[in-house]
Amino acid sequence: MKIAIPKERREHEKRVAATPDTVKKLSSLGFDVVVEAGAGDASQISDKDYKEAGAEIAANTADAFNDADIIFKVQRPMQGNEGGVDELSMIKKGAMLIAMLEPTNHVDDVKAYAQNGILAFAMEFMPRITRAQSMDVLSSQSNLAGYSAVINAAHEYGHAFPMMMTAAGTVAPAKVMVMGAGVAGLQAIATAKRLGAVVSATDVRAAAKEQVESLGGKFVMVESDEGGETEGGYAKEMSDDYKRRQAELIAETLKKQDIVITTALIPGRPAPVLINDDMVASMKRGSVIVDLAAPAGGNCTLTKPGETYTTDNGVTIIAHLNIASNLAADSSALYAKNLLNFITPLVNEEHNGLDIDWDDEIINGILLTKDGEIVHERLKGGN
Ligand code: NAI
Repeated sequence: MKIAIPKERREHEKRVAATPDTVKKLSSLGFDVVVEAGAGDASQISDKDYKEAGAEIAANTADAFNDADIIFKVQRPMQGNEGGVDELSMIKKGAMLIAMLEPTNHVDDVKAYAQNGILAFAMEFMPRITRAQSMDVLSSQSNLAGYSAVINAAHEYGHAFPMMMTAAGTVAPAKVMVMGAGVAGLQAIATAKRLGAVVSATDVRAAAKEQVESLGGKFVMVESDEGGETEGGYAKEMSDDYKRRQAELIAETLKKQDIVITTALIPGRPAPVLINDDMVASMKRGSVIVDLAAPAGGNCTLTKPGETYTTDNGVTIIAHLNIASNLAADSSALYAKNLLNFITPLVNEEHNGLDIDWDDEIINGILLTKDGEIVHERLKGGN
C-alpha cells in the first residue's frame, strides 16, 4: 500500500505529517512511502533525510498522490476554488485521508470528501481513552502551544521573569496567570514556573486544582456546586450566575498580573469570553495577554485573531492562529508519531493491507465519510 505525504500549503503552516523516523517505521510495516519534494523544509527535514529513511521523493503533489491509498496530512486539503493546487481532486476514490480536518468549521469540505468517495479521518476527534493517548493530536500540539505561549509572552514583556537580587537592586518576579488548565495550560504553568515566575491558574473543572498545585501554581476558582466537567473530561458551558461570579473573580485577579495566558475551550463551541474590555483596561501598562483560544474566537474581547498589538493602555495581546506550527520541528515529530500510532494497529502484515474494524471506538470516533456518505454522528445533519 502506498502512503503519500504532501507539502502543506495553507497559510502559516510549517508542519509536515511524517518525519524520517516515522517513514522508516512505515516502510518496515510494508508501506511504500512517497513524500512530496520540499515537504519537510519548514520543519528542518530535507528531501535527502526522507530518502535515506526509505521514502521516494515526488516532484509535486499530483505525483505524490498518484494511486496513493493513504494520505497523511496536517491540515485539510486545498480545493480548486481556493486558488493554487487542488489537492482534494488528486486523491483517488476509496483512499484514506488522515489529517486535522476541522470538520465542525468546514462542513462543506466534509461533504466534498463524501462526494469524492474518500475515507476521511479527523484526528482531532480522537476519543480520550487510554488506548488512544499516543494518537491524541490535540494533546501533542497543545503541549507545545502552552510552552510557546510563555516564550512569546516573555519575548514581548519588558521585564525579567525570575526574581533577581543584585547589588544594583532587586527585580521582582513576573506574575503569570493561566486561564484554562488543560494540556496547554498545564504546560504553560510548568514553563512559567521554570522561568521563575509566580504562577496562578483557574479552570471550571475542579480536577484541575490538584494538577495546578502539583506544578507549584496557585489555583483560583469560583466556589460552586456546579460540576464544570463532562463525562468525557472536557469543560462544559457554565450557568450565567457562575459566569458572573467568575468574571468578578477574574477582574480582581487580573489587575495584579503581568502575563495572562488564556487557553479555555469548550469542544464544538466558540471559546468562552473570560476577559472583557474593562478588565483589559484595568491591567498594568506593559502586561501581556497570550490568547491561545484565538482560533476559536478568543477568550478576550479585544483579541484580534492572527495579530499581535498593544492597546491604548499599554497591554500587548498576542493571538497566533497556529502557534504549534512555530515549533515545527517538534510539532511535526509528535504529530507524525500520532499518525504512525494510529495506523500501526490497523496493519495486517500477512496480507500486506489494513484490517479496519468499522465498529471500533477509535474508528467510529474519527471517521467522517465512507461509501459516499457522511457517517459521523456529530456531522450527519450535513448529509
Ligand atoms: P481544552 O483544550 O478543551 O480546554 C482547555 C481548558 O480550558 C480545559 O482545562 C477546560 O476545562 C478549560 N475551560 C473551559 N472553559 C473554561 C472557562 N469558562 N473558564 C476556565 N477554564 C475553562 O482541554 P484539553 O487541554 O484538551 O484537556 C481537557 C481534559 O482532557 C483535561 O482534563 C486533560 O487532562 C484531559 N485529557 C485526557 C486525555 C486522554 O485521556 N487521552 C488526553 C488529553 C487530555
